[in-house]
Amino acid sequence: MILVTGATGTLGKPTVDLLRAAGYSVRSLSRHPAHNSETVVADLSTGIGLQDALAGVTTVVHLASGANARDSQQTRILLDALAAHPVEHLIFMSIVGVDKHSLAYYRDKFLSEHLIAASGIPYTILRATQFHSFVSRLFSAQRWSPVTVVPAFTMQPVAVEEVAERLTALVAAGPSQRVADFAGPEQLSFTALAQQWNSAHSFRRPVWTVPMPGAVGRSFARGDHLSTLPGDGRATFAEYAKAAAGPR
Ligand SMILES: NC(=O)c1ccc[n+]([C@@H]2O[C@H](COP(=O)([O-])OP(=O)(O)OC[C@H]3O[C@@H](n4cnc5c(N)ncnc54)[C@H](OP(=O)(O)O)[C@@H]3O)[C@@H](O)[C@H]2O)c1
Repeated sequence: MILVTGATGTLGKPTVDLLRAAGYSVRSLSRHPAHNSETVVADLSTGIGLQDALAGVTTVVHLASGANARDSQQTRILLDALAAHPVEHLIFMSIVGVDKHSLAYYRDKFLSEHLIAASGIPYTILRATQFHSFVSRLFSAQRWSPVTVVPAFTMQPVAVEEVAERLTALVAAGPSQRVADFAGPEQLSFTALAQQWNSAHSFRRPVWTVPMPGAVGRSFARGDHLSTLPGDGRATFAEYAKAAAGPR
């Protein structure tokens, strides 16, 4: 039995689908009740429900991450629960560049990596670059704006379904510690990505590029969040934007 935390999220949904299609028994963890027997209710910020969620589980795919709760706090609570319910394999989803980036969320993610590596539990850590949907959220948020404003840095976005494929392969591979990063096939400026999005949606509006201030801005400008080229990802952002726009 595989327990997937964050099973209801952007990455969790395709991961659960692919694991089931590969023949695994999968239990989804969520804070919210669902009307099916395959979802278990638990909260990683308190630990409530975790012991029941882990009953009979041999592999945990830990994808949950809360915007307002620290990633490492949730990871600590999961690791404490795993001390009472040992598993054969813990897979953790991380982000490219967390070891050098200034963003607090990324630094905390790096702490989660450390906690897992030091836990004694057989583990695999996969880092990925930002998902296509993460990038497009910035554009969608500005859909009523006469201009698209973007930060002045480069991205290497990746298709979330391909990250889910890699996670499924890592389940089969067994504990492998830190594995090769999974990154998108190309590096493009945010400006170019916004132009692709606007073009796919037939939006005729200028794209304004603004520098991001501070240490976090410098980290992004340096490309601390980027991987090497070519990344293993296949789908481009332009293809994603076209599919998101639908038939024209
Ligand atoms: N987004 C990106 O571009 C990107 C890139 C690389 C890596 N990652 C990493 O990939 C992982 C998944 O990201 P995502 O974008 O799919 O996340 P997401 O869509 O924001 O989903 C977050 C998930 O975390 C769960 N969650 C949050 N707080 C929880 C809590 N206290 N207890 C239990 N579950 C909790 C939510 O479940 P419920 O609401 O159902 O409880 C939800 O399923 C994260 O670790 C993220 O850092 C993301």
